[in-house]
Amino acid sequence: MKKIYDLPDLFSEQVKELYSAEKQQQSAFKKLFKKIGSEELQELNKKIIEKNELHIKRLEDVLEKLGEPKKIIECKAMKELIDRGLNLSKNCENIEVYEAGLVSVVQCMKHFEIADYGTLVAFADLLNQKEITEILKKSLVEEETHDKELTGLADRSINDRAKLLVVNVD
Ligand SMILES: [Fe+2]
Repeated sequence: MKKIYDLPDLFSEQVKELYSAEKQQQSAFKKLFKKIGSEELQELNKKIIEKNELHIKRLEDVLEKLGEPKKIIECKAMKELIDRGLNLSKNCENIEVYEAGLVSVVQCMKHFEIADYGTLVAFADLLNQKEITEILKKSLVEEETHDKELTGLADRSINDRAKLLVVNVD
């Protein structure tokens, strides 16, 4: 990360970090959703991946408008969340329990992105970057929608399926 002197510097560095977070998430999702049984969760995953692709393009657009390179600054927070998901994938012996854990991890990712997009929208607005503010707002709304959809799915079926599973370990 380069030295930060003012709000425009902070803004563009945070855009780069979120750009990386979206890309990290996109490649991790392919691994995390490999052994999913719930069709509903698979469908939602497909939708999230499609929107993430759009989020990546929008952030590239923002970086171009800022005259910044599409530089990756690895997002350590996203890496931690991805590792949490990969650990679950390695250690959960039952798909139903893994799915409940996976939904919670993806929701943590969405909450992280909601916080980041929310801040960036506020910064862009303060910096009078009207076009950029509108671009970022679109992604913010989509992240919020996915979070709500994940909550709905967990409440409707995923958590109950995990609860119903009783395993006798002798
Ligand atoms: Fe995203």
